[in-house]
Amino acid sequence: MTNHYQWWQKGIIYQIYPRSFQDSNNDGVGDLPGIIQRLDYLKSLNIEGIWISPIYPSPMHDFGYDVSDYKGIHPMFGTMDDLDRLLKEMHARDLKLILDLVPNHTSDEHAWFIESRSSRDNPKRDWYIWRDPAADGGPPNNWLSFFGGPAWTFDEKTGQYYLHQFVTQQPELNYRNPEVLPAMLDVIRFWLDKGVDGFRVDVITLLIKDEQLRDEPLNPDWDGIVPFGKYKLIRRQNHPEVHDIIHQMRAVFDKYDERVIVGETYLPNEDLMKYYGNDDECHLPFNFQLINMEWDAQTIRKAVDAYESMLPEGAWANWVLGNHDKHRIATRIGIEQARVANMLLLTLRGTPTFYYGEEIGMVDVKIPLDMIQDPPAVNQPEIADTQGRDPERTPMQWDNSPNAGFSEEGVKTWLPVGDYKKCNVKNQESVSTSMLNFFKTLTNLRQNEPALCVGDYQSVDVKADDVFAYLRTAPHANHFLVVLNLASDEHALDFSQIAKQANIAIATDMTRTGTIDLSNLKLHPNEGLVLQLG
Ligand code: NOJ
Repeated sequence: MTNHYQWWQKGIIYQIYPRSFQDSNNDGVGDLPGIIQRLDYLKSLNIEGIWISPIYPSPMHDFGYDVSDYKGIHPMFGTMDDLDRLLKEMHARDLKLILDLVPNHTSDEHAWFIESRSSRDNPKRDWYIWRDPAADGGPPNNWLSFFGGPAWTFDEKTGQYYLHQFVTQQPELNYRNPEVLPAMLDVIRFWLDKGVDGFRVDVITLLIKDEQLRDEPLNPDWDGIVPFGKYKLIRRQNHPEVHDIIHQMRAVFDKYDERVIVGETYLPNEDLMKYYGNDDECHLPFNFQLINMEWDAQTIRKAVDAYESMLPEGAWANWVLGNHDKHRIATRIGIEQARVANMLLLTLRGTPTFYYGEEIGMVDVKIPLDMIQDPPAVNQPEIADTQGRDPERTPMQWDNSPNAGFSEEGVKTWLPVGDYKKCNVKNQESVSTSMLNFFKTLTNLRQNEPALCVGDYQSVDVKADDVFAYLRTAPHANHFLVVLNLASDEHALDFSQIAKQANIAIATDMTRTGTIDLSNLKLHPNEGLVLQLG
């Protein structure tokens, strides 16, 4: 019954941060041949789509999100042949490849920007956002970079400022110039022609800005800590005209079979829903609510119900728990809740996107001062702890050899390796109740049960504030009740209004099995259960 769904609706997406997945040539940085070596592992996770953060040539000021050639591969990651081989090997295993498209900005070393910056009358001058200084010689408006400092850099040679909302070396393209979007669509076609299955589009909400580049108003809710939060973001993101650009991007995808466009969309529901368009913009505008949310059962239930109720007709839900920009879930909510969190992500309705390493419960790694590299941390040392993203980007912990099987012993890895003796794939493969085996059992269940994979969702009232429960159902298929204890108290719960009894399909501890009397369900601390009904 799941046959008429597209792969990106049924399948689980797994994000790889390529610098940190597998280093095949012992330079301390992960690469494409490394990913190829690990494809059987990835297949064993029962995932379907793999999104790889940028692998293009880049001076790496923002670790690949500063692209200097959209149609190449950074030698550190390998060659175009490696990419072709990866694609072939993935397709042979029925895995889909999603690349990262970074259309909002290029590197300052991209040929387009080098031309643009060369003179005021260069034909590519207007491909970027250049403005004269303000009357006092300062930046043209009050916009601040997300990574610290102003969002404008003065270019001595031509006497103007250019816009960059991230690092100085990431000048922003001007989508009001009619030549820019066609150039980016050409990039999309290049990769789709190769057989790449889709793109995750970086900061898609930023692609077009207020035409007059007006100042942002003060933000009355500013915490006084993170500088860019001082102003609202109403002129520099989520501009209504952005939908026209996304619409044109989507039209390219629609010329191919089953390609997916995923948008990076940190927005409240009302705005987020617009990024589906009329089924003619993003297939999956990322739903990041769980990433930022207080870990509280009632808060989460409200948020899930609200999101569900606001999804437009025909729009496909999706959920994200972690990524390369946010602290790891096991650090954020505590390792004792990590399995519950994974159970939530993998049993909600919609496509889950999963961050590498969280299947084994990897946690953030404390980065020694001399190894901190991420620009928002380097530029703003006083708030490095909250803004720095190195801790969640450390090498995958494969086994208990020095460097965790990521690089060979003796290699200096680009970021330090976490506590691999305590947490690694190899150990967990051999323990039947490990987090990894929990993950595989759960993904296997999800992929084989239509109700969990593509079925309906309905939350259930529970007389315990710590507990979030919901039903997943589908016609002519097994029905499930998911019960999640988001805290460390035990609860006795009565679900007899739903059914008399149920079978445990999977429990977070991987040992609890059997039939349960639903009028007196004893839910253990930090426990999650997927219960098969009837
Ligand atoms: C969002 C990406 O996820 C992040 O890692 C990057 O720094 C910014 N966009 C700028 O490209």
